[in-house]
Amino acid sequence: MEAEFWLQRWREGSTPWNEGVPNAALRRHLECLDLHPGDRVFVPLCGKAEDMWWLHEQGFEVFGIDLSPIAGREFLGAHGLSYTETRHSRYSLLESPGFRLFAGDFFALDAGDLEGVAAIYDRAALVALPPPVRQGYARRLTELLEAPILLITMEYPEHEIEGPPFPVCEREVRALFGERRRVRHVGEEDIIERSNLRERGVTRLVEHTYLIA
Ligand SMILES: C[S@@+](CC[C@H](N)C(=O)[O-])C[C@H]1O[C@@H](n2cnc3c(N)ncnc32)[C@H](O)[C@@H]1O
Repeated sequence: MEAEFWLQRWREGSTPWNEGVPNAALRRHLECLDLHPGDRVFVPLCGKAEDMWWLHEQGFEVFGIDLSPIAGREFLGAHGLSYTETRHSRYSLLESPGFRLFAGDFFALDAGDLEGVAAIYDRAALVALPPPVRQGYARRLTELLEAPILLITMEYPEHEIEGPPFPVCEREVRALFGERRRVRHVGEEDIIERSNLRERGVTRLVEHTYLIA
């Protein structure tokens, strides 16, 4: 997926993936990450997900990155937070107490940018990336941080729509992360009734949650 594809979606205000409420699987499985108040949680390809607000409410410091600065601005604005926005060589940085939101390419981050991060939360990030990019994403994520990952994927009959989002099966998750980490499938839920993908012609949709540690 070209960066321009996503930047255009944000400019147009077309963000159908945004749930608008904290993700149910995140709420159910957060405890797997064994976090403590004040810990830093990294949300790659974060968009303006309410999950970040919910994590903040649980007492965590949220680090996120999205290609578009509109994502962070809309997220912080929606919660009435004042913030600073500074331009750096590899990204812009939106900062507000409890939040450090990078606007730039995930692949341009380095480990120093994510110092002290204790856990990673990926919802609609891995599945937003086309097959050839997913391997590089998984490698980079595990190179950047040793932290455990709570990963939420989705599976649907592949031929029904063209991604994103792309269906990612358990075999692929194990192939992507299994050499370097232990992968545990911790839950699944049929989400077709509340998904906008139904309007695009998807008939079956199951969200899967993994703990990668
Ligand atoms: C499907 S959305 C998911 C957003 C969020 N995780 C959520 O659950 O609402 C994928 C997001 O990834 C961002 N994105 C895509 N490629 C990226 C990259 N290489 N670096 C940073 N963000 C990227 C897009 O701008 C988009 O907001």
